[in-house]
Amino acid sequence: MCGIVGYIGPRDATPIILNGLRRLEYRGYDSAGLAVLENGGIQIRRDAGKLSRLAELVDSSPVHGHCGIGHTRWATHGVPNSRNAHPHTGNTGKVVVVHNGIVENYLELRQELAAEGAVFQSETDTETIVHLIERYLSRGMGLAEAAREAFGHLKGAHGIVVMSALEPDKIIAARIGNAGGVVIGCGDGEMFIASDLPAILDHTRRVVFLESRQLAVVTRSGLELQTLEGEPLRFQTHTIPWDPVSAEKGEYRHFMAKEIHEQVRSLTDTISGRVDFEQGRIRLPELNLTPELARRIKKIVITGCGTAAHAGMVGRILIQRISRIPVEVEIASEFRYSDPIIDRDTVVLAISQSGETVDTLAAMEEARRKGAVLWSIVNVIGSQAMRLADGFISMQTGPEIGVASTKAFTAPLVDLYMLAILLADLRGSLADDDRRCLVNHLRLVPDLVGRCLDRDRQVQSVARALKDMAHCLYLGRGINMPIAYEGALKLKEISYIHAEGYPAGEMKHGPIALIDRTMPTVVIAPRDPWYEKMISQIEQAKARGGPVVAVATEGDKLIGSLATYVLWVPETPWMLSPVITVIPLQLLAYHIAALRGLDVDQPRNLAKSVTVE
Ligand code: AGP
Repeated sequence: MCGIVGYIGPRDATPIILNGLRRLEYRGYDSAGLAVLENGGIQIRRDAGKLSRLAELVDSSPVHGHCGIGHTRWATHGVPNSRNAHPHTGNTGKVVVVHNGIVENYLELRQELAAEGAVFQSETDTETIVHLIERYLSRGMGLAEAAREAFGHLKGAHGIVVMSALEPDKIIAARIGNAGGVVIGCGDGEMFIASDLPAILDHTRRVVFLESRQLAVVTRSGLELQTLEGEPLRFQTHTIPWDPVSAEKGEYRHFMAKEIHEQVRSLTDTISGRVDFEQGRIRLPELNLTPELARRIKKIVITGCGTAAHAGMVGRILIQRISRIPVEVEIASEFRYSDPIIDRDTVVLAISQSGETVDTLAAMEEARRKGAVLWSIVNVIGSQAMRLADGFISMQTGPEIGVASTKAFTAPLVDLYMLAILLADLRGSLADDDRRCLVNHLRLVPDLVGRCLDRDRQVQSVARALKDMAHCLYLGRGINMPIAYEGALKLKEISYIHAEGYPAGEMKHGPIALIDRTMPTVVIAPRDPWYEKMISQIEQAKARGGPVVAVATEGDKLIGSLATYVLWVPETPWMLSPVITVIPLQLLAYHIAALRGLDVDQPRNLAKSVTVE
């Protein structure tokens, strides 16, 4: 998705913008540019390609000023080239815009504006915005009013930042719908604007998040917040606990490797402050879950996309087993169009690392429209999915930069486990001893994860053997069936090897026809209630000559004798086993992709947060 950075203050804007855009590189892009107010005019540098190309442009033709905006573009309308790269100006050259989102009615706007004399220089939808602003400036409006008028004509979801040589003391930022965030960083005598937190954290941790249909007039000394109708609004300044260092790679080659190995700490953070081990109780205060609501809930629908949906599949089993509340899991892009049967006694629980995934946000809005209680499990504090919900659980993992989600998968697994216990406790459906036992198991998690990570080299050697495979099947059952989906997703999204996750019991209904010596099968077979069934799975795959990679519990001699390769995991209480069995599969995917020399943190065609449909 596109990245936006803006700066206004006493320092030179150019390096601040470039560094901010570098912090957003993980979002995926194919062109980049910046605009700076210099000597009363607007200087623009932009081109297709990576930020290194933009830096070359700036080096060869320097530009300096105290007010500027920058953008990394993920092409939607118009191929990646210098004409289509943002920022965009209009006829006067006095106004410049960068934009995230899609102007869904841009064709009719282009015709309307061209008829008024607008001369379009690009194929982008974004350029219509700057011409609309110029239309209203020519009618005598100030920049903020002209921007509000212009934005009223746009269909779709947008993050927009505007700067003008006519009013060089301000930057206008606005958010309409869910096209990724717009966040304002509050410095001392300087202000920052960005589409995501990492671009701001080097300078300040005091931030204001724009909600949909809000516009900010940002000057060096602060901001004024308004509705798109011009009504003044009060705003809350959040202090973000993340620090810039935690968004760095440290001694790791890739962010993904760092984030996999951070899971001992991130899961410790996920648990900390939420478990009373003495009383054997769970506390999730931000969820606003009362005993009355807990008893009233008739059904929970968990929704999300990709990895988040896989976490929801594990959560369904946990919540049903522990609290006896019926749970459904609906992929968010399906849920939003399924006319779901939900009401005030239904909880819709959205899971989203970024909190900005457009399908997940739309599912939340559909749930809100139908009167459901709305919860979310998010990682980004202040994200839309956090603020839309009636209550939320923060994953508390710190920034996850790698596009392939790892620590933001295991954290919600533990959050869902804790939620299940809390629901059961408030509904009185769990004996005291059973509750204490389940709570006590949480103590084991960091150490068990650490023991999986200690086997990184063994996983790497299996990755060397498998790195040239063209296909791979992942099989799991019960609570580890979603781990088959998640393991396959990890492999395919960063190594580009075709991989499929499948319920193991489905093998004989078709997929087994695929197995031969060229088709490895990863079988997730820890000592859990479905263990016996997985043994036969391994035998069926081997009988057809397929190599078998088994995720198995340490000391399991039978599987050790049957499987071609074994990824050992420590003995784990079965309800927490997915937190453990996924670790070697994260490492396997990572090492295979790294051995294939691929861009692990920014896989082709992917973005960290999918904010457009
Ligand atoms: C996971 O590795 C993928 N990057 C992707 O499936 C991701 O989980 C999905 O886009 C949802 O993102 P979210 O958690 O930020 O909503």
